[in-house]
Amino acid sequence: MAQTQVSKKQSLYINGEWKEAEEYTPLYSPYSGEVIAEIPKASIKETEEAIEAAVAAQKTMQKLPAHERSEILYKLVNLLEENADKAAEIIALEAAKPLTTAKGEVARTIQTYKFAAQEAGRIYGETLPLDAAPGGENRLAYTKHEPLGVIGAITPFNFPMNLVAHKVGPAIATGNTVVLKPASQTPISSYFLAELLEKAGLPAGALNVVTGSGRVVGDRIVTDDRISMITFTGSPEVGTEIRSKAGLKRTTLELGSNAAVIIDEDTDIDRVIPRCVQGAFGFQGQVCISLQRVYVHEKLYDTFVEKFVAKTKELITGDPLDEKTDVSALISEKDVDRVLAWIKEAEASGAEVKTGAAREGNIVLPTVLTNVSPEMKVSCQEVFGPTVLINSVSSVEDAVKEVNNSRYGLQAGIYTKDIYKALDVSDELEVGGVMINDIPTFRVDHMPYGGVKESGTGREGIKYAVEEMTELKLVVVNRNA
Ligand code: SIN
Repeated sequence: MAQTQVSKKQSLYINGEWKEAEEYTPLYSPYSGEVIAEIPKASIKETEEAIEAAVAAQKTMQKLPAHERSEILYKLVNLLEENADKAAEIIALEAAKPLTTAKGEVARTIQTYKFAAQEAGRIYGETLPLDAAPGGENRLAYTKHEPLGVIGAITPFNFPMNLVAHKVGPAIATGNTVVLKPASQTPISSYFLAELLEKAGLPAGALNVVTGSGRVVGDRIVTDDRISMITFTGSPEVGTEIRSKAGLKRTTLELGSNAAVIIDEDTDIDRVIPRCVQGAFGFQGQVCISLQRVYVHEKLYDTFVEKFVAKTKELITGDPLDEKTDVSALISEKDVDRVLAWIKEAEASGAEVKTGAAREGNIVLPTVLTNVSPEMKVSCQEVFGPTVLINSVSSVEDAVKEVNNSRYGLQAGIYTKDIYKALDVSDELEVGGVMINDIPTFRVDHMPYGGVKESGTGREGIKYAVEEMTELKLVVVNRNA
């Protein structure tokens, strides 16, 4: 049964059935403040039912041959292609993601599920030459990857379709089952996915969607012994708490960052600035690899700042459902207040506001800061808002020190024409991914993605998530027997 329409009461999706919840909460548009749906607030009992359904469906999923798992994912790809406009509207409405950006997310989601469909058929093991050790002669040894069982997926608001795809796609590809708790602000995307997967023929119980509070639903998923792995994207604070409560479960944690780019003295800044502006303000800066810090060689600094500010002022703010909008509302009023307070705090300590630092409703105007010191929150914390700092450096070496002076380490970028310098810098940067001649915000969905330091543990990107979601089993045949 199809249920997902906005302005409608949603239902929990448990064991292949749409279930009325005992309790509901209104979901508000971050942009207009209007009620857009009624969302189930699952109880412990309902969360338990979802876990039980996922446990019961394990055998079915484990027995499903790779070609069938792949086919379900390909059918999902087709359904998403047919419903791409509706999917983008859901994202725009519940997350206030500008429609053009939301369409980009849907296109990426389709890619992600395609990669998952392909990957289902190439979960290879290897043969091992056991005779490399005395006593290992005359044995055939091989490894295989087995599904872990039940995956608990806890997903964020900022990519409500694609970051869910990065968890659900590889889980299905590997024959696992899933209990999914989407972010409270963006549940409709996940219910929409469940609807499409039901149509695609996913066995009942293989995906269960339970919305509700982190303290009730999230905690139950994280602490339940029948769940083998938690895959989470969100803040380092919640990630750390999850890790401490998850016991011996495997955990993949994609956490935050204050991503940076280095602009060397030989950079063609006219080519680079539009890309940097996009990296700083795309989806209002609510991206884990948003460009938050720019370190520019002193020889280019003044011109860079002037041109960057001019480009920033061209951005159009407004309704996320308007195709022309570049920047819309932040996810909550609380975040608007927090981001503006951090900017004010930086200004009071000597930072200079070049543009922005004001609000229009729940929209924070794209903000450019200079003269920011490393201990200011707009530098050392993850802002997750439309704010970027541009500081001057006297050399690339100094810039690397600034970039590494961070609790985070997700991705970083360097623009330079000197490839030897770029390669040296790629060795020095303390991050999970280095983008040479690009912003740290670059991501396509099959590349390994994840961080060091407080940016997390483990890697996503389908092939890498497949490794995280499977257990390596060794089989040895004694040919002497
Ligand atoms: C994230 O915010 O972690 C995901 C960024 C992306 O997929 O582009």
